[in-house]
Amino acid sequence: MKVVHTIADLRAALHPFDAPALVPTMGNLHDGHLTLIKAAKPLGDVTVASVFVNRLQFAPHEDFDTYPRTLDADCEKLAAAGCDVVFAPSERDMYPEPQGFKVHPDPAIADILEGRFRPGFFVGVCTVVMKLFQIAFAEAKGRGTAVFGQKDYQQLMVIRRMVRQFALPIEIVAAPTQRANDGLALSSRNGYLSETERAEAVQLSLALRALGRDALAAADGLARHLPALEQRAMEALSARGWQPDYLTVRRRDDLQSPNAGDALVVLGAARLGKTRLIDNLEV
Ligand code: PAF
Repeated sequence: MKVVHTIADLRAALHPFDAPALVPTMGNLHDGHLTLIKAAKPLGDVTVASVFVNRLQFAPHEDFDTYPRTLDADCEKLAAAGCDVVFAPSERDMYPEPQGFKVHPDPAIADILEGRFRPGFFVGVCTVVMKLFQIAFAEAKGRGTAVFGQKDYQQLMVIRRMVRQFALPIEIVAAPTQRANDGLALSSRNGYLSETERAEAVQLSLALRALGRDALAAADGLARHLPALEQRAMEALSARGWQPDYLTVRRRDDLQSPNAGDALVVLGAARLGKTRLIDNLEV
């Protein structure tokens, strides 16, 4: 496995290949990321992982400075998972000058849910992902592929729309959320949890499952009953010591409020102690 740190070196490493499959990450890898690598392997003629903690998607009060940087351990895991090339640029390589040009996604999809509680988050994500695509696929002769986890459901949707609206010749592939034995969605931020918090953390996915069941039971009265069901779910989690940002049932197609008969996804974000966790469940 080759590890490269500059844009020029990545382009040179990918030059002989026709159709790279890219897995963008911020490192501190867990089994969920490795599933993305395994999903990417058959989709291209070279598998590339990027490891870059992207300052642009963090608000000043968020965990950019403390986000774990574990490149050596990440590379060992990536090699074992069959990754061919790791792109681990420094901030100077990715942003040699202030990134004044940015990708501003449609507010209809990017200013709700995560975007409401993390203003600017999706501008940062889209900007770095667009840049990673330009770097990784510039030499591609065929169609490139990029694999993202379904755990970041809204991110996946925003990126799909970006690719569609900019007509990028890139296929976006979703890989299912990986969960610990108790059902907690794997996330790099789980590492911030104390032992007690770790035992409690599964309650977010349980709350989403319960809300999903309630939503399905509401059937034709879904739109009418949903605000009260969501409110009850948030209160139940708050009573356990969480600070929920949102627990909500949305239409899968566009993450807007659903009507009876729509395919549904339940999404939630909540803080447990200092750790903010997100999860989702299609129901
Ligand atoms: O999901 C992530 O880890 C990040 O948002 C991504 C897509 C690598 C962009 O920095």
